Amino acid sequence: MTQISGSQTRPSAQDVRGFQHYPGWLTPPEQAALVKDLRALAAQAPLFSPMTPYGRPMSVRMTSAGRFGWVSDRRGYRYSQTHPEGMAWPAIPQSILDVWQAVSGSARVPECCLINFYGEGAKMGMHQDRDEADFAEPVVSISLGDDGLFRIGNETRGGKTQSLWLRSGDVMVMGGAARLLYHGVDRIAPGTSTLLPQGGRINLTLRVVT
Ligand code: SIN
Ligand code: MN
Repeated sequence: MTQISGSQTRPSAQDVRGFQHYPGWLTPPEQAALVKDLRALAAQAPLFSPMTPYGRPMSVRMTSAGRFGWVSDRRGYRYSQTHPEGMAWPAIPQSILDVWQAVSGSARVPECCLINFYGEGAKMGMHQDRDEADFAEPVVSISLGDDGLFRIGNETRGGKTQSLWLRSGDVMVMGGAARLLYHGVDRIAPGTSTLLPQGGRINLTLRVVT
């Protein structure tokens, strides 16, 4: 436990296959402040529905902040310095940088904050995060809103997996020896959080890209 302010404390990490899971890292007021920052961000860089390189729409809607954003279309998955509508991505809000600073153990600053929105029925297939140049840098994930059933696999596709629910305010550090483990989101549980008035789940992933 680490001190927040007054008598409040931060939760300790729980190791899940080498991923460090901090259940309820963000307090409800911190979560609400983050959502406010994300609304301002989405007003500048709207959520879009990416196409997979195979021509099928992804079920999540996404946008990004930082020097790089993550995009997907018929040309493939990649980092891009511009939103599909042509503008630069907005800066990563300080509230989000603070989480990276507290848990990443990195001396660098994240260059991308990918924002994924999961409506009812949205999911994310098992994948590795390997479009970054330096795998010594972790990926830090923040969950907001409805619970998401997160699955962690292995360094190669297939094999035994382990699932856990990521809840609003949870932070996960995917780094070290676990940096290249396959992972995905099987489903969300609608109505499990009141943080987002219209429901759904937001996941933020912070990455050093270069
Ligand atoms: C991701 O792997 O990009 C998203 C993970 C999540 O939604 O929890
Ligand atoms: Mn990922």
